[in-house]
Amino acid sequence: MKTFTQFESHELANTLIEKALGFKNNPLQSKDKGQGKRLGLIFLNPSLRTRVSTQLAATNLGVDSFVLNMDKESWALEMQDGALMNKNKVEHIKDAAAVLGGYFDMLAIRAFPTLTNKQEDTEDFIINQFIKYAGIPVISLESAIRHPLQSLADMVTIRENFKEKRKPKVVLTWAPHIKSIPHAVANSFSEWALGCGHELTITHPVGYELDEQFTKGATIEYDQKKALQDADFVYVKNWSAFNPYGKILKVDENWLLKENKLGTNAKAKIMHCLPVRRNLELSDEMLDGERSLVQVQAKNRIYAAQAVLDSML
Ligand code: CP
Repeated sequence: MKTFTQFESHELANTLIEKALGFKNNPLQSKDKGQGKRLGLIFLNPSLRTRVSTQLAATNLGVDSFVLNMDKESWALEMQDGALMNKNKVEHIKDAAAVLGGYFDMLAIRAFPTLTNKQEDTEDFIINQFIKYAGIPVISLESAIRHPLQSLADMVTIRENFKEKRKPKVVLTWAPHIKSIPHAVANSFSEWALGCGHELTITHPVGYELDEQFTKGATIEYDQKKALQDADFVYVKNWSAFNPYGKILKVDENWLLKENKLGTNAKAKIMHCLPVRRNLELSDEMLDGERSLVQVQAKNRIYAAQAVLDSML
C-alpha cells in the first residue's frame, strides 16, 4: 500500500478491519516490525485523536514518529506552482515535501479544506501536492474531502458491535453547529459504509446534500425521525452546505438528537468522531448513555492506524 487517502475496495477494507481487530486483541504482536522506520506526522490543523492514536500505533509497531505542527512551527507554505514568492509565503510545498520525503519513510498529513475555494478543496489539492513531491508513502490524517483513518475506525467499531447475519442499517444524521464545518468525515463515512456493503440512510435538512460522488447508493431521507426507524447505528455529524459551498443555511426544525427521537428503537448505537460540542451537536444523554460508542471509536483509532501502518511496512 503506497498511499492511504480513501476507500479503495471492499477486500482491502475487510483486510484492514480484521487486522485492526487483531491488533486490538494483541497490540504488540508486531512490535519490532517497524524498527528503523520513521513516520513524519505533519499537521496543518489541530488534532487530539488523530495525532495521539497514530503515534501510539507507530509505537506499537516499533516505528519512530515525529510530529510537526506545520501551521504554527514551520514556514508559511506556498502551494501554487510557478508562484512569484514576494509576499508572506516563505517556503514552497515542492521544497518542503521533498525535504520531508528525504527525512522519513512514511509521511502522514492533515490538511483541512478552505471551505471557500471549492475547486481546490474538491481536488484535495494540498494532500495531492504532498503526494506529488514527497516521493514516499503518504497517509491522510484528514484531507479537504476525506478522513479515511476515522472511517476505518468507524467500520471496525460497527464490525465488533454487530453480530447479526444481515447488513446493518446505518444512519448518518446531520447535527446543528455554529461554525462552518468540513464535509470530510461525512463524505468518508458514507464512502466506507457503502463500500463495506452497509445499508446507509443519510438524513439532513434540505440544502445540506453532500457531494454525490460520496453518497451514490445511499437513501436520502429528509425526515430525521423516519430515517432513524430501525437503525442499528446512528452516526451524528455536522457539515456545512456543499451548495452554496461552505455556507451555514437557516434550519427551522430541531435536529439535535435526543432519546425521544429514537422512539421504541432500543438497539440503535450512537456514533460520533469527536470532538463534539455537547448539547449543540449531540445531547449529554446520548453521549453519556448506554447507546454511545464514541469512546470505543476513539480507542479504535489506534488499531485502525496500526493496521494501515503495518500494511505499509
Ligand atoms: N476525530 C478526529 O479526527 O479527532 P481529532 O480532530 O482530534 O484528531
